[in-house]
Amino acid sequence: MSQRTKIKALLQSQQTEIDVTVKGWVRAFRSNRFIALNDGSTNNNIQIVVDFENTDPALLKRITVGAALSVQGKLIASLGKGQTVEVVASDIEILGDSDPEKYPIQPKKHSLEFLREHAHLRFRTSTFGAIFRVRNSLAFAVHQFFQERGFVYLHTPVITASDAEGAGETFHVTNFDLDNIPKTETGEIDFKQDFFGRATNLTVSGQLEGELGAMALSDIYTFGPTFRAENSNTTRHLAEFWMIEPEVAFNDLVDNMDLAEDMLKYVIKYALDKNADDIEFLTQRLTEEEKTKPQNERSEMTLLEKLQFCLNNDFERLTYTEAIDILKESTPNKKKKFVYPIEGWGTDLQSEHERYLVEKHFKKPVILTDYPKEIKAFYMRQNDDGKTVRAMDILFPGIGEIVGGSQREERLDKLEQRMNEMGIPTEELWWYLDTRRFGSCPHAGFGLGFERLVLFVTGMGNIRDVIPFPRFPKNAEF
Ligand code: 4AD
Ligand code: MG
Repeated sequence: MSQRTKIKALLQSQQTEIDVTVKGWVRAFRSNRFIALNDGSTNNNIQIVVDFENTDPALLKRITVGAALSVQGKLIASLGKGQTVEVVASDIEILGDSDPEKYPIQPKKHSLEFLREHAHLRFRTSTFGAIFRVRNSLAFAVHQFFQERGFVYLHTPVITASDAEGAGETFHVTNFDLDNIPKTETGEIDFKQDFFGRATNLTVSGQLEGELGAMALSDIYTFGPTFRAENSNTTRHLAEFWMIEPEVAFNDLVDNMDLAEDMLKYVIKYALDKNADDIEFLTQRLTEEEKTKPQNERSEMTLLEKLQFCLNNDFERLTYTEAIDILKESTPNKKKKFVYPIEGWGTDLQSEHERYLVEKHFKKPVILTDYPKEIKAFYMRQNDDGKTVRAMDILFPGIGEIVGGSQREERLDKLEQRMNEMGIPTEELWWYLDTRRFGSCPHAGFGLGFERLVLFVTGMGNIRDVIPFPRFPKNAEF
């Protein structure tokens, strides 16, 4: 019997008294008798019972936390509490020793900060095992959602020569020798001599290329890494994050909102069904963590309740202007509790405002639409009022903005005029403008920040804990 069975399958086995081989890493070893073994297939460990009287003491010594083992034995109904089955070992092989003095991940509670510094080993904790299994399910569910609806998965470039969001927060891509950068006669960097013959950067969004696809394939989505050199050291920002960007020809803003709401509910439901154990574990983790907070800062709902609540309620839809009116009249604004007081119409909302709307006022996810054009990107469709654009942001409890999108400006003259006003070079984006020259049509799309979604579903508090190896200012370890 050499075929390995995964621990998840063993724990669900209807059959007992069968010979099994199980492989994994030691989470704990107590009384020289009980090994808690985990292989990442589930959060639950399988208990291995060691016949210590008949086992070589030298081997027993090598069964330490973190060691990799292969165990052969019999799966039996467990007599002990806490598990239904266990494996009585007949043969234990040490595949990889671990030095218990030096192994950083001990069977005790480690802080998330400590684990971030040991991100290469943190997968071996229950919390991070659960997070990355949930992340996996969400990613799969995103594809399933769009594939079921006939969308084409389009791979947009990682290296581009444009800054889709026009925010100037890009990472340069070059193969210049940085000690000897070619200069023009007038002393500027001579990008003509660079690899691509022009200045290039890592993409901040696949949207512009996504729109080109939608103008022929009708319904596309991207799902890839995006990069932003914004120096925001927050629990919601990464320098490298994954974004899902659907783009749909013939959709207007209402269709766009419907699509985003359906997608979010679909993927959350998928994770709830598929990862019930993990979400149960994460719910308990969060409940414990909440207990350390002052009473008035504790969440009224558990993680599980929050997720279910999100599935069972329509998202609240209102305009930016309506939101400003609510915020202006809100208690925290009147009592000067906001760091950025709401004074008038036109300013961008800060996350404290977004969270007030979602967590205090409506107490559910909110979709805000029709923002002032000054605070949004050039490509959004202009409303007839001359002041606002057909934008939409979806705001989630505990997160703030999770989705940003819009109906696109499909009218060439309006688009060019806006680009000129905003100093976006129309010549460089000739290919984007071509879609408005040849068979332009109404269309809409949005971007979902994948890590913000994972943050919501896992109930974690810091975005650096929901991507395997986070990239943020002054950190690119691993
Ligand atoms: O709102 P953003 O900047 O929109 C776009 O990039 C559009 N091109 C999307 C589109 O319409 N196709 O970003 C979209 C989402 C945000 O709502 C947020 O969830 C996430 O991406 N996001 C980040 N996530 C982590 N770290 C960062 N630095 C992020 N910046 C944006
Ligand atoms: Mg945005």
